[in-house]
Amino acid sequence: MRENITRDDLDAVINYLKQDDPILTQGANVRAFEEEWSEWLGVKYSVFVNSGASANLITIAALRHLYGVGEIIVPALTWVSDVASVIQNGFQPLFVDINPATLCMDDEEVIRKLTDNTRAVFLTHIQGFNGLTNRLLEALDKKGIPLIEDVCESHGATFRNRKLGSFGLISNFSFYYGHHLSTIEGGMVCTDDEGIYQMLRMLRSHGMVREASDGAVKVKYIEENPDLSPDFIFSYPAYNVRNTEIGALIGRNQLKRIDENNRRRRKNFSLFLSSLNSQRFRTDFYLEGSCNYAFNLVLKNADSDLRDRVEQVMREAKVEFRRGSSGGGNQMRQPYLKDIVKDREWEAYPEVEHIHFYGYYVGNYPTLEKEKILELCDLLNNA
Ligand SMILES: Cc1ncc(COP(=O)(O)O)c(C=O)c1O
Repeated sequence: MRENITRDDLDAVINYLKQDDPILTQGANVRAFEEEWSEWLGVKYSVFVNSGASANLITIAALRHLYGVGEIIVPALTWVSDVASVIQNGFQPLFVDINPATLCMDDEEVIRKLTDNTRAVFLTHIQGFNGLTNRLLEALDKKGIPLIEDVCESHGATFRNRKLGSFGLISNFSFYYGHHLSTIEGGMVCTDDEGIYQMLRMLRSHGMVREASDGAVKVKYIEENPDLSPDFIFSYPAYNVRNTEIGALIGRNQLKRIDENNRRRRKNFSLFLSSLNSQRFRTDFYLEGSCNYAFNLVLKNADSDLRDRVEQVMREAKVEFRRGSSGGGNQMRQPYLKDIVKDREWEAYPEVEHIHFYGYYVGNYPTLEKEKILELCDLLNNA
């Protein structure tokens, strides 16, 4: 990733800092960013937090308070915080393999694994691909199981012409530097549900009731707790995951160009795929609605020699890459899960296993020149 925070973004911050005694902690710019983001996404409410991982954490904490613990279906290919937040809140993660065309959870396997104990499906839209299908949405709707969307890697991608993150009961975004939009560090939790919105506002700020924006919520707690100072009523055992005015200023400035940036990313990605040798690499991803901040480089076959040569040419050309795609590949292999996942259980998830050993991503940023994309493909095709 390069130039994700531009001179113009920095100037917006500098102008703000020129005033005497500017408010830097969460304030009017955070509120404005939340409103502008909600409008861009097509949801009613958004809560700005300090990272995508924090978005995951308070989302799953909200689920625990709403529905109690049980199983949450998660992908084997995702970021660590999507699984860690589930465990930290006392749920059991139930893993699902991926669809190789989208790298997102295989919808049929999700549907097969739904039980009376399923509290939610926590789907990750991997690196700009859409993971939703009509079949999945209908099955969840029929069983009344909430969908939680992790859109940390897929800002602006769509399904049925609607932005991802506007389908689930709650959705999460990350504004880490490498993603489609960056506030240095940051994240957003979005929902259409007013009650959940109030809960998320409190969970973001120590569980403090005065953080709710609905007067009725505050009055209820104050009346139920006459012995407490109304300024210090803590509704839930929670966290401080607030962001700052500086993050919000950068986010607001970036929102003005996210659509144009995403148009360029789509164009870059399509040039990348059409220039790769499809005998060596997978080029048949399902692209409808996708918006990738990374080039997905997946070897067609489990060929370790080719893998070594591909890594070597990228290293020599100083092309930064990550093996294992999102989150380093198969989460089930990670040591933090050793008490939950049985030894070698991960081998029953062949699609994510392939990505673990033969899948990569390389940054796709808006100012990346066409010549560089062609040069990269040339290197890879001849490795
Ligand atoms: C799918 C997904 N979820 C959550 C996160 C966590 O976001 P952050 O790095 O902002 O904490 C990431 C980070 O890259 C991610 O890719």
